[in-house]
Amino acid sequence: MSEFIRTNGLKKIYHVGDQRVEALKGVDLEIAQGDFVVFMGHSGSGKTTLVSTIGGLTRPTEGTVLIEGKNIWKLNDSQLSNFRNRKIGFMFQSFSLLPTLNVLNNVVMPAIFNSNSRKKDTDALKSKAISLLTDLDMKSKVNSFPSELSGGEQRRVAIARALINDPEIILADEPTGELDIRTEKEVIEICCQINNVYKKTLIVVSHSLTWLEKAKTTIVMKDGFIYKDLADPVQAIMNGVCK
Ligand SMILES: Nc1ncnc2c1ncn2[C@@H]1O[C@H](COP(=O)(O)OP(=O)(O)OP(=O)(O)O)[C@@H](O)[C@H]1O
Ligand SMILES: [Mg+2]
Repeated sequence: MSEFIRTNGLKKIYHVGDQRVEALKGVDLEIAQGDFVVFMGHSGSGKTTLVSTIGGLTRPTEGTVLIEGKNIWKLNDSQLSNFRNRKIGFMFQSFSLLPTLNVLNNVVMPAIFNSNSRKKDTDALKSKAISLLTDLDMKSKVNSFPSELSGGEQRRVAIARALINDPEIILADEPTGELDIRTEKEVIEICCQINNVYKKTLIVVSHSLTWLEKAKTTIVMKDGFIYKDLADPVQAIMNGVCK
């Protein structure tokens, strides 16, 4: 696996009133193409900030994010949004499904924003969305609304939506939060397939230890840093070092 994503000295400082929060304190990280990375660590350790900085959503205060050697934070706004749309599929807590759109339209929506929304393009996108939803065993629900779906089904729609632009990287922040263990395992299994079958580089943030069985790489964060020298990150998490 070759180097694909690299961060150098990544810092993020938030200012809230006269308070200064150092969410990232200098993160140096490499992620290879095709990796399946899980970020773990206690609440407030900087996981969401880090992945949204890598995803081109949160501008770092200092440091660089290189993707295939390109410094994404040197791009202008339209180049950056183009890059995000092409390269990255997001499954973020805050990016929930739109309640007024049915499943099919929720999945095609980011792609329609991305295209010229000509009728021909829209039809092709809809066929692609149906094919993705079929792969995810959601074909019978294409006309349902989010409120008519179970939590696991909603996650599968979010997965289809993240894949619609055929991005190389999937960033998922707590994709299995609030799911029961069985549904969580199903969603994790789908994510493994996204990594193995669709060959996407998968970056997941989660508090759930169930991911550890499947991830190729585990990265532990604490107080705005990543632990570099944990001989056994899984054991460290189990021992409560990081939670
Ligand atoms: N938009 C923001 N404005 C101000 N402070 C923020 C903002 N986002 C995050 N923070 C602060 O930055 C720190 C890191 O937050 P972050 O959301 O990255 O943590 P996290 O590891 O994802 O936590 P959790 O596991 O609870 O989701 C926290 O102290 C948080 O309060
Ligand atoms: Mg978070």
